[in-house]
Amino acid sequence: MCSKDAKLPPHVLIFPLPAQGHMNSMLNLAQLLCLSDFHVTFIVSEFNHSRLLKHTSTRSTFARYPGFQFQAIPDGLPDDHPRAGLRIMDIIPSLINNVAPSFKKMLIEKDLLASAGRRPVTCIVADAVLDFNADFAEEHGIPLIYFRTISAAAVWALFCVTEVAEANELPVKGNGMDELVKSIPGMEDFLRRRDLPSFCRVDDSNDPALHKLIALTRQTVRAQAVILNTFEDLERPVLSNILTHMPRLYTIGPSNVLLKSRLEEKKVGPLTSSGSLWAEDRSCIDWLNAQQPKSVIYVSFGSLTIMTRDQISEFWHGLVNSGHKFLWAMRPDSAGSADRVIFELEEGTKENGYMVEWAPQEEVLNHVTVGGFITHCGWNSTLKSIGAGVPMICWPYFADQMVNSRFVSDVWRVGLDIKDSCDRVVIENAVRELMELRKDEFSKRASRLAAQVGRAVREGGSSDRSLEDLIRYIGSMIT
Ligand code: UDX
Repeated sequence: MCSKDAKLPPHVLIFPLPAQGHMNSMLNLAQLLCLSDFHVTFIVSEFNHSRLLKHTSTRSTFARYPGFQFQAIPDGLPDDHPRAGLRIMDIIPSLINNVAPSFKKMLIEKDLLASAGRRPVTCIVADAVLDFNADFAEEHGIPLIYFRTISAAAVWALFCVTEVAEANELPVKGNGMDELVKSIPGMEDFLRRRDLPSFCRVDDSNDPALHKLIALTRQTVRAQAVILNTFEDLERPVLSNILTHMPRLYTIGPSNVLLKSRLEEKKVGPLTSSGSLWAEDRSCIDWLNAQQPKSVIYVSFGSLTIMTRDQISEFWHGLVNSGHKFLWAMRPDSAGSADRVIFELEEGTKENGYMVEWAPQEEVLNHVTVGGFITHCGWNSTLKSIGAGVPMICWPYFADQMVNSRFVSDVWRVGLDIKDSCDRVVIENAVRELMELRKDEFSKRASRLAAQVGRAVREGGSSDRSLEDLIRYIGSMIT
């Protein structure tokens, strides 16, 4: 490297699983690093890249960062593969297997992305579910940092699944779902079998998919460092357990709020794009503007959930019967073959509610008229609700969401967990409890948590310091 190149900033390659929830927090990290003048290459599947360009003002958002570039790679699925709308667990293993060869080929052919004015990749920040990165990074002598996009609580629960299996506490054939799980340190008093990550709901404790997941989680320690999208005050006890296995741990969450705070500090204008893969329908903001403060319950089940016709219908009846106004973001591919039911709901919603296919969620949750959130407890959604001080009704769909919802209801106590039931009466009662009967109690705790978020991201706060430590650590790789 010539002396001019030696002065170039670090070049970080960021590689999320090509799914909305995983991309969001890693796109925030990309921007945070660019604000510190790093060069960033963000790996995205060709399919998602074209959706980003089509649906969001991605070009103008990232144009503000001269050091940022997307690198699109094939995801290995056939062109006519629908990608969405299928049960995600059927797609994720093939996505992981399929992106690996195109990623490695691209990096090697492009000489680790070195170019005029950009040094070869300094380190890889990979989604921890893309486990092939550990061998690749080792082979090529590139430092590896894993980003685990789920909560620390879910990471720890997954990390302990071997112990849970050994203690015969797996919900094999769904037995004893309300019994407490005693084999996860720190969670003995509140985590039930039904709150374990959904992959633990096996018929046989030797289930190969479960064991693959255990191996996937355990290999996180192969990275030189781990990043989590959480903050110390929220998950301190769990974080101290994780630290015993992953000593170089950076907690930079909520990454969306930290980014907002840094943009304000640097007096850079607000974001114009959230990196959405669907077109945001902003008409819901006009609708919200016409509502009363804290009167609306926002409903969204994230980017992956697929619901049956009956489940949608139960939620709709529960909401309408509660008498509360609601805004429902329902992805066109979230309802399988339930197109007709969606049409009927749209017709029947006019009086009390409003429906869109995809909402500007962060803006919605921070809108003064939103007083509650019915959520699947995806980690981004949960954190965004916490950041906005909005209490939740949790109806987790799968994976880490089972753990998150228990933490919302029983640890942070900012909402209700109605997992494993989908009944209009249960939903109606939960909405009334959240929006009327226990409104003040939930609002007070949620506001307290939101204030903690504010402290974590401001200058000198725990997430702000952690990001600085991460920046220094990556910087030390080139000196
Ligand atoms: C999955 C996981 O279960 C989650 O816990 C994991 O961390 C990532 O992948 P997903 O359905 O993508 O879940 O949920 P979530 O993590 O909440 O991410 C969805 C993202 O889409 C959020 O950032 C949310 O703000 C955004 N969103 C959702 C919108 O912007 N508009 C919408 O209408 C719905």
